[in-house]
Amino acid sequence: MEIKDKRVVLTGAAGGMGSILARELVKLGANLAMVDANAKALDAMHAELPDSHAIAGDLSSAAGCTVVADQCLEKLGGIDLLINLAGINSFAAYEDENPEKIELMLHVNLLAPMWLARAFLPVMQKNNAGRIVNVGSIFGSIGFAYFAVYSASKFGLRGFSEALRREVADTNIKVTYIAPRAVKTPMNSDALMRMGEATGMNMDAPEDVVKKIIAAINNNRKDIYFGFPEALFVNINVMFPRLVDKALAAQNRIARAFAKGEK
Ligand SMILES: NC(=O)c1ccc[n+]([C@@H]2O[C@H](COP(=O)([O-])OP(=O)(O)OC[C@H]3O[C@@H](n4cnc5c(N)ncnc54)[C@H](OP(=O)(O)O)[C@@H]3O)[C@@H](O)[C@H]2O)c1
Repeated sequence: MEIKDKRVVLTGAAGGMGSILARELVKLGANLAMVDANAKALDAMHAELPDSHAIAGDLSSAAGCTVVADQCLEKLGGIDLLINLAGINSFAAYEDENPEKIELMLHVNLLAPMWLARAFLPVMQKNNAGRIVNVGSIFGSIGFAYFAVYSASKFGLRGFSEALRREVADTNIKVTYIAPRAVKTPMNSDALMRMGEATGMNMDAPEDVVKKIIAAINNNRKDIYFGFPEALFVNINVMFPRLVDKALAAQNRIARAFAKGEK
């Protein structure tokens, strides 16, 4: 899909990757609606990109998503491309996760993309055109210790993307699932960054990931998994999960102390 003149809704537009992606989309000629819960950061983005639309909203409920979707359609007069990028994570031992945080993470990472896709799909169906891009994670294919809730949310998002892609396969509506490995953004806590260093976790620059997201949209990719060896591990995990259990065991032991706040 060529981005020029397309009506684009980008969630998480004020975040680490979102702000870079928003600038690129505008540079490429998109008519952009930027959505984010962080009103202050969103205002700053709007000041920088005054021709775009800024829609502050909390996507953690179905009602919040409906309000945001209505505002986007009003501002843009329709939609060609939805990019579900907003997300939250948690690096913690599962016994330390609280029920509210579990619920919030599933709402923002999994249900919000589903609610928004449901709100925009009829508009795309009317035009028989459009693309929905869901930003997941390598952790949506490899369940990672101390990211149990995050992994669950991204596994769900990958399944939803695959099912919806197959459901609309006979139309001109396309679904893309994007799975970055770790990226250097404010999403990752200090403890996570220290654990990443201690275990040799590969971390990409957000600018590089954004370039690949744009390329995936331009090239009509169905899905994309980032990085070596992570992308290879995604396939090994499907066929030989016990091998991945073994490969990650030592790393998981190191990660525990960081996840428990002991390091
Ligand atoms: N960073 C990584 O290592 C990594 C790796 C793989 C995949 N990803 C995925 O990439 C996406 C973007 O991540 P990022 O690193 O750019 O994260 P980020 O820097 O934390 O940005 C996320 C943005 O989403 C916003 N947001 C959070 N909850 C929201 C809600 N309820 N309603 C509306 N907006 C909300 C955040 O606002 P606040 O500032 O108010 O929280 C923030 O501006 C996420 O889906 C993430 O899971 C990230």
